[in-house]
Parts: sequence; C-alpha cells; structure tokens
Amino acid sequence: MRVLIAYSSKYGSTRGIAQAIAEQLGTHAVSADVASVTETTGVADYDAVIVGSAIYMAQWMPEAREFLEKSAAELADRQVWVFSSGLSDTPSKDTNSGGNRGIRSFVPEGTEHRHFTGALDMDNLNIAERAVIAAARGKYGDHRDFDAIRAWADSIAEKLRAD
Ligand SMILES: Cc1cc2nc3c(=O)[nH]c(=O)nc-3n(C[C@H](O)[C@H](O)[C@H](O)COP(=O)(O)O)c2cc1C
Repeated sequence: MRVLIAYSSKYGSTRGIAQAIAEQLGTHAVSADVASVTETTGVADYDAVIVGSAIYMAQWMPEAREFLEKSAAELADRQVWVFSSGLSDTPSKDTNSGGNRGIRSFVPEGTEHRHFTGALDMDNLNIAERAVIAAARGKYGDHRDFDAIRAWADSIAEKLRAD
C-alpha cells in the first residue's frame, strides 16, 4: 500500500498538517510520502492519495487545483481524501466556496473533504496581505488542531485497512 500526501502551502502550516497526517498514518504501519504538489511526480505509483491546500481568498491555491485537474483520471481509480487549511471555520458555505465547489469535479464522487483551521504569522505577510486579514478580522496565531488532524488520519488508516 503506497500513500501520497500532496500539499500546497504558502507559509508552511499546511505542510505541517500534511506531515502530521503522515506521522499518524505511520503509527498504523501505513507509510506515506509527503510532497508538495509542484514537486511530486504524480499519483501513478500510489494506491491512495491525500491532497491538501491552504485557502487564499476563498480558493484552493492554483497549483493544488491544477494538480487535481491533471491527476483527475488517475485519481478516479484510487482512494482519495482532500483537506483544506484556512482561518475560516465555515468552509462549506459562502466563504471558501472555491475550496469546495472548485475542486469537486476533479475528485471521485463522494471524496471526503476535511477542513482544518490553519495558522497565520503576521511577520510573514506583506502589507496587502495584512490588509486582507484586517478586513476579514482574521486572528493571527497557530490555530491548527493536531488532535483533530491525527483523528482524521486514524480514520483514513482504518479505511485503508478495511480495503
Ligand atoms: C491574504 C490572505 C488571504 C486568506 N484568505 C483566506 C480565506 O479566504 N479563507 C480562509 O479560511 N483562510 C484564509 N487565509 C488564511 C490561510 O488560509 C491560513 O493562514 C492558512 O493556514 C495558511 O496556510 P499556509 O501556511 O500553508 O500557507 C488567508 C490568509 C492570507 C494571508
């Protein structure tokens, strides 16, 4: 069983979520390769694929969407999970609609899409980004819930084992 966790992350917090998922899968004796969507050679060598992206301006990062789009035919034959990371905790409604509706056509029907709260360090941001965060009243800090992330990885390991 080969598992790929492909992520897209501008400031590293989504990469941290991908790594935490891989570590937790490891506790179930499931080994996973973690790679950015721009570095991985693709999904051909894998039985199961987990793809995650940070959300910016209500959208998945373009390279993550492109990765899903170009992999769509291969993903149709594989077990697939997707996750988003963002500060909004209402990803399925109006906010972050691109993170949900925008990628649905590229993944097999019924694919589980999990949203995790992310992290934001003001020091990383330029003035324009800080203005966006101020307007949205975004909260700086690391809001990642690693218990929830590990629990999700546990559920994935269980499904992989069942199959
Ligand atoms: C300019 C900007 C726009 C953002 N837009 C959204 C958004 O629309 N929805 C959301 O949930 N989070 C938004 N965020 C928060 C990021 O998704 C969050 O900080 C994420 O954890 C960053 O992931 P990364 O460290 O992997 O890049 C935004 C952050 C910035 C700086």
